[in-house]
Amino acid sequence: MKRYAHITGWGISVPERVLTNDDLARMVDTTDEWIISRTGIRQRHIAGDGQSTASLGAEAALRALEVAKISPGDVDLIIVSTSSPEHLFPSTASLVQDRIGAGKAGAFDLSAACTGFIIALSMAAQAIQTGSINTALVLGAETLSRLVNWEDRTTCILFGDGAGAFVLQGSEQPGGILSSVMRSDGSGADLLIVPAGGSKLPTTPQTVQDGLHYIHMNGQEVFRFATRVMKQATEEAIELAGMTLDEVDWVIPHQANQRIIETAAKRLKVPMERVVVNLDRYGNTSTASIPLATVEAIRDGRVQSGDRIVFVGFGAGLTWGAAAVLWTGLLAEEKRLIWPYRFYNLYQVYARVRSWVLRFVRFIEGVIWGKRV
Ligand code: COA
Repeated sequence: MKRYAHITGWGISVPERVLTNDDLARMVDTTDEWIISRTGIRQRHIAGDGQSTASLGAEAALRALEVAKISPGDVDLIIVSTSSPEHLFPSTASLVQDRIGAGKAGAFDLSAACTGFIIALSMAAQAIQTGSINTALVLGAETLSRLVNWEDRTTCILFGDGAGAFVLQGSEQPGGILSSVMRSDGSGADLLIVPAGGSKLPTTPQTVQDGLHYIHMNGQEVFRFATRVMKQATEEAIELAGMTLDEVDWVIPHQANQRIIETAAKRLKVPMERVVVNLDRYGNTSTASIPLATVEAIRDGRVQSGDRIVFVGFGAGLTWGAAAVLWTGLLAEEKRLIWPYRFYNLYQVYARVRSWVLRFVRFIEGVIWGKRV
């Protein structure tokens, strides 16, 4: 029997702190009017002290598990798509796994910038479709505010923090992720880049002095690239899924810039009423933007079971991609009484105790075995 990968849970987490365009105008030489007219962004959320990519991701994950009515222990795989991981290694996915106490889950990070959520969805869906796993948590989580140069008005106006999570589950019922398209063009690598801090240019006092640990971007080139590839990827994903554009209820694009989205919609001949946009309130949250927009559209009743959706994204790499989905929501057989988010504090205590027990066991092992291996 053919297996399908359905999106059965969804959740988001955004920091409480809001930075408006007027706030930014007090920090750099810009205006609310300029930012709105060039980008459509009015405000963005910024992570506070104690918040991080993993903490936002873990909260979004528990909300998604609650919707799917499954517990962290049911998760087979966690993929965290991020460009602002907590560390180069270990993966942020492993930190999320520990924070939610997902005892049997494999975990890895996926680095494909703003396109990452689509690629992560595709990877998880394929693992489910082959039968190698049954349940996956796919996260897009970012704290790009930590990589932004707050003195560079060409980039600091764009980005915001946040996380979104989908639960994917296998079923023989047709639907879920029907197709995906993944593309890359590394010849444009320098157009959107954090130059230092990796193995090519390790962090030194000089790289910090030169600001090479911040996001650097050629805005106009990225703009042109984005409008070109969004149409192409959307059409390819729809064709692969055996749909037509007329049958698509919602296009949910990466939320980078209102003008990019409007240009792409015009080229696709899709009216803006069928395009989900929420970047005015969140800015560009990179790989978190597609789940953030999707979850809002579910909550306000726009996206409903049976809808046909295309997710389309683009970003650094350069990378771009799209996925066509038949939205089914909660699978009929999954009606269990599990509330990972309602009992968030309890789950946090459980996960912390679990983590400390594992650390303690390692400590005792170290005492017993000493320097012997
Ligand atoms: N406030 C006021 N003026 C600004 C400004 C700001 N925040 N940022 C740039 N400017 C100025 C520039 O210095 C330039 O001034 P000049 O003409 O005196 O040299 C002028 O505005 C026009 O700059 P330009 O870069 O041509 O603006 P733009 O219309 O291309 O808009 C972006 C800039 C960044 C908003 C736009 O290029 C963009 O959105 N690109 C895509 C970026 C993106 O989405 N990246 C993420 C991809 S995942």
